[in-house]
Amino acid sequence: MTSVLRFDDVSLHRGTTQILSHVDWHVDEGQHWVLVGPNGAGKTTISRIAAARLFPSAGAVDILGERLGRVDVAELRPRIGLASAALAGRVLGGETALSVVLSASYGSIGVWREEYDDFDVERARALLTALDAGHLAERTWANLSSGERKRIELARALMPDPELLILDEPASGLDLAGREQLLAALAEILAAPGAPSMLLVTHHLEEIPVGFTHGLALRGGRTVAAGPLDAVLTGEVVTATFGLPLEITKDRGRYTARGA
Ligand SMILES: Nc1ncnc2c1ncn2[C@@H]1O[C@H](COP(=O)(O)OP(=O)(O)O)[C@@H](O)[C@H]1O
Ligand SMILES: [Mg+2]
Repeated sequence: MTSVLRFDDVSLHRGTTQILSHVDWHVDEGQHWVLVGPNGAGKTTISRIAAARLFPSAGAVDILGERLGRVDVAELRPRIGLASAALAGRVLGGETALSVVLSASYGSIGVWREEYDDFDVERARALLTALDAGHLAERTWANLSSGERKRIELARALMPDPELLILDEPASGLDLAGREQLLAALAEILAAPGAPSMLLVTHHLEEIPVGFTHGLALRGGRTVAAGPLDAVLTGEVVTATFGLPLEITKDRGRYTARGA
């Protein structure tokens, strides 16, 4: 099997703060992983390392067959789609939805360039349409709801046709309808032939779309459990991960957690 990600004994500290401790993690082609854990567990930190945006303090990281630290990240990053609140926060209010998506293929946010070609414009429009946001193409970012913005962020992450798609809390802040629409769209992307390997960060089990195969549970920068999703999302593991007695139920591919 081809390796998508390989973390070997990865640690990260800032000053005296240990953010990640001795994380071992292997993602193979055909797997789709969920990173779960409470606030501050290190999920965003791991996803930024996996997206070649951040370097660990110790350990080795291979991304899409390239060793972080040896590869030119400017060549690696376009192979990885990333959607996160931090990126979305950098979009300017006057930017149109179409240009937010289009500019992804040039690695910038919201800078309109003359050299966008028709092929790119068509692809951006097709992605927006596929995410039920085609009618929003000319609308400015400031005038979009959070659910609409999340779908546009997803279209942007898909624009470079990435081999690896990383979504950091894609459903946070959405209302129920917005969340369900987004999860349905993600399940559809994941089920399509040639889908990218997906990595989804969340602290709500209700926000895991159908079709994810594996899970990494984190607490305090350490791995609590990693492996097939059903083996990770057990009452025992989730209780240890969140530090509170929890019960998990699964129904038609979706998970729910509640206090035990
Ligand atoms: N640059 C930084 N300097 C110091 N602490 C940081 C830095 N970045 C993250 N942290 C801390 O590392 C921990 C993990 O952060 P993060 O990866 O964002 O967690 P999560 O996404 O699981 O909520 C948090 O306690 C956070 O405050
Ligand atoms: Mg986070």
